[in-house]
Amino acid sequence: MYILGIESSCDETAAAIVEDGKHLISNVISTSVKEQALYGGVVPEIASRRHAEYISATVQQALQDANMAIADVDAVAVTFAPGLIGAVLVGVNFAKGLAYGAGKPLVPVHHLRGHIAANYLTHPQLEPPSQLEPPFLCLVASGGHSHIVQVEDWCKYHVLGRTVDDAAGEAFDKVARTLGLPYPGGPSVSQAAKTGDPHYYKLPTPHVEGKYNVSFSGLKTAVVNEVHNAQQRGEEVRVADMAASFQERIAQILAKKLLAAAADTNAKTICLAGGVAANGRLRQLVNDGAQKLGAKVYLPELKYCGDNGAMIAAQGYYEFKDGNIADLTLNGLPTLAIDYR
Ligand code: KG4
Ligand code: ZN
Repeated sequence: MYILGIESSCDETAAAIVEDGKHLISNVISTSVKEQALYGGVVPEIASRRHAEYISATVQQALQDANMAIADVDAVAVTFAPGLIGAVLVGVNFAKGLAYGAGKPLVPVHHLRGHIAANYLTHPQLEPPSQLEPPFLCLVASGGHSHIVQVEDWCKYHVLGRTVDDAAGEAFDKVARTLGLPYPGGPSVSQAAKTGDPHYYKLPTPHVEGKYNVSFSGLKTAVVNEVHNAQQRGEEVRVADMAASFQERIAQILAKKLLAAAADTNAKTICLAGGVAANGRLRQLVNDGAQKLGAKVYLPELKYCGDNGAMIAAQGYYEFKDGNIADLTLNGLPTLAIDYR
């Protein structure tokens, strides 16, 4: 079964064809990230306008790369929530028109479920025991969300913990901005951290209610204060050392909470998902910790960590099989729980 996946919830306009929820056929991403970088973050209206400009060509290219026409796909899957609403609506309305015109089923996909499905694309082996399939425990960390989720079945989730304030990616972006590093902050902080001392700055581990909840607002503020204090004293901020110290602290917090949840729930399989899953230090800490627990780790390939259409097509396959098919009244939503039914 071939699914066309369309994604437009943030600053990537993306389309892909995936076979049976696992096998990538084509994958096209157009992005307004360079333009967004001029402003130090995503300007929603710019994102929406670029989606409107890019979406037809992006979808056409995905079909062309797959050597397919729209008649050859079995369903059109689209991110309908959560995300920047003006951006989401571009993809939703395009997918509606396309599905209606071609007489194909329209499958609504939750963006974070899509991030989790990026792992199925990375580990498509057909035979157990190497095949990745639910149940497993997953940390989903993106620019807008940080969740620790039990993936109980392909379309069934139980949230164990979440951020009580900022998302992990948001904290990376804010810290990058404070340090004068370019947007998006995750890659630029990681790059700067390579030459820094992760123990130079003593940054706090915020206390938070809820055993598997996380909080990054205090950590972010600690970096901002440290930088401002240094500036007021006329001292130079040690950018690489601060980047490394921040990355170390946030990766430690995320890994510790995920591994505690894994130990308590006796998870046999652990996954990472979302843009922050590209972070090398986080991947290393989770790998090492899981080994000690005797749990298997599946990490998404770097090209599937950020927003893409393939992850939407992959999850779209399982949503379709689960009977999750929308009619033409489908709306976009800025927020929606991952375990919505
Ligand atoms: O999942 P994603 O591409 O978009 C959203 O759904 O938000 O995540 C984007 C976030 C950004 O905040 C970006 O700074 C962060 O993921 N990110 C990273 C890395 N690459 C991207 N954070 C830490 N380390 C990275 N290597
Ligand atoms: Zn995302």
